Amino acid sequence: MSDTITVFKGDGIGPEITDAVLKILDAAGAGLTYEIFSVGEAEYEACGQLIPEEGFASFEKTRVLLKSPITTPVGKGFRSLNVMMRKKYDLYANIRPARSNSAIKTPFENVDIVMFRENTEDLYAGVEEMINEETAHSIKIITRKCSKRIIKDAFEYAVRQGRKKVTCVHKANIMKLSDGLFRDVFYEVSREYPQIEAEDKIVDNAAMQLVMRPQQFDVIVTENLYGDILSDLTSGLIGGLGLLPSSNLGCGYAMFEAVHGSAPDIAGKGIANPTAFLWSACMMLEHMGKSECAAKIRQAVDRVLEEGKVKTPDLGGTATTAEYQDAVIQHL
Ligand code: NAI
Repeated sequence: MSDTITVFKGDGIGPEITDAVLKILDAAGAGLTYEIFSVGEAEYEACGQLIPEEGFASFEKTRVLLKSPITTPVGKGFRSLNVMMRKKYDLYANIRPARSNSAIKTPFENVDIVMFRENTEDLYAGVEEMINEETAHSIKIITRKCSKRIIKDAFEYAVRQGRKKVTCVHKANIMKLSDGLFRDVFYEVSREYPQIEAEDKIVDNAAMQLVMRPQQFDVIVTENLYGDILSDLTSGLIGGLGLLPSSNLGCGYAMFEAVHGSAPDIAGKGIANPTAFLWSACMMLEHMGKSECAAKIRQAVDRVLEEGKVKTPDLGGTATTAEYQDAVIQHL
């Protein structure tokens, strides 16, 4: 695999956290070359396109994209670029690991949940229409093919990582056909993995159980919308959105991004927490066979968090993004 990656600097806090993460990657000796592009709202206003053609061409060449968040205006206007990227490159597996860090105090201890979110269908398929002026219509699409591949990935991951259990989250009691299909495929696939416990939970119960006793969960596999919502919930269990990384994997393409958005409320203030994006970059290094470098960065972050002297405001500190970045670099 080449050491050149594509980088999309997005909106809001995107450019700030991208600068911090690239500096840390360089200081850690990741040995990467970057093809960097501005994408999102600002790029649209300047050039009339959300992602420049050269940005797509770069990703099609490097096959590895480190993408910072992009603003998607609510309501009418352009469709989510995030959804578009996932569909265009069939990045069907959105993997979101939420792990407690002993240095970050939350009401929940020993949380270690890896969420596998199906990334290409469900209500995100974008099949919507106005039936008349009073009624809008969105179609939920669930296919056997897409359910099977994400569920298989979740079980394969469980085997590889020595995990014990995979939980399927659905609402098959109400959406008997679509969610029923997802659940049925889950149990079909689970028969190939007798060593891994397979269970299912209805999404509302899963949400309550995640807050009451998150330690009972190990690997979760779920549909697009439930995965989107529940993974923000799991970020809350471990200390917030500034701490949840993700990878989006498909056939031959890999995109790495923080779970959080462009955080317009703190954009430009230099106080964004770059940890989620940095950990996404660590997942990228592991994907590229640079696990040692990823481990070095993770250890440096752990030491900074344990010392507790340099924390961004979302974690109760007063440090700027740049001060945090420098502290991580000092501990490499
Ligand atoms: P958000 O995740 O941007 O922010 C939610 C809250 O978390 C805010 O109070 C924000 O300040 C805080 N937060 C988020 N990341 C943080 C960080 N790294 N450090 C410190 N605090 C952080 O969610 P919101 O406000 O709903 O969405 C803003 C925009 O981002 C929307 O246009 C949305 O569509 C877009 N978005 C983009 C995503 C992506 O590009 N992958 C993912 C989620 C949302």
